[in-house]
Amino acid sequence: MSKLPPPVPEPLSFDIGNEHDRFWCAAEGRRYAAVIGFDAKAQGEVAIVIAELVSNVAKFAGRGTFKLSTVYEPRPGIRIVVEDAGPGIEDPERVFQDGFSEGKRLEPGTQRRSGQGLGVGLGAVARMMSHVEMENVPGRGLRVVCIKWLDLPRGGSGAYSASGPGSVRNG
Ligand SMILES: Nc1ncnc2c1ncn2[C@@H]1O[C@H](COP(=O)(O)OP(=O)(O)OP(=O)(O)O)[C@@H](O)[C@H]1O
Ligand SMILES: [Mg+2]
Repeated sequence: MSKLPPPVPEPLSFDIGNEHDRFWCAAEGRRYAAVIGFDAKAQGEVAIVIAELVSNVAKFAGRGTFKLSTVYEPRPGIRIVVEDAGPGIEDPERVFQDGFSEGKRLEPGTQRRSGQGLGVGLGAVARMMSHVEMENVPGRGLRVVCIKWLDLPRGGSGAYSASGPGSVRNG
């Protein structure tokens, strides 16, 4: 008896136009992750990460693009790309640290104003994904690429790499 391969979702691309788009973008990502075969916890992490990145695009760049695709090599996974043409980030390494918000480090216990995103931040994005890459092109915006492997139940090491101002990479 031959076994059918699991369904593979086609690459998708969506426009981000405002802060509220994070809700349906997160829902799309959760559904996409479910089709690839991620468990409920991993689906939730995918949704949180997308909501955070989409929220950042709306807050700091106004508009942008959100893309989902399946990765096959070296193993199955989900690839999330969120990009914009906003101001970019001056110090991409630093913003991955937990507790870094609104361009500065938050002291423990700081009251957060409402309407400033989810309070999750890029630190959480790095922790929930297997790999995060940030490409910063001053004057042209920010591109964040996240990959989460299907076979790493804990979401991987949270390793990331960041490219500094001036570096451009295509593809
Ligand atoms: N798309 C972007 N364009 C320009 N700057 C960005 C972008 N995304 C994040 N940043 C910068 O990186 C910082 C850290 O982002 P992060 O999402 O961790 O925090 P935040 O959005 O300020 O707060 P929170 O997400 O906790 O509500 C932001 O304060 C902002 O200065
Ligand atoms: Mg944010």
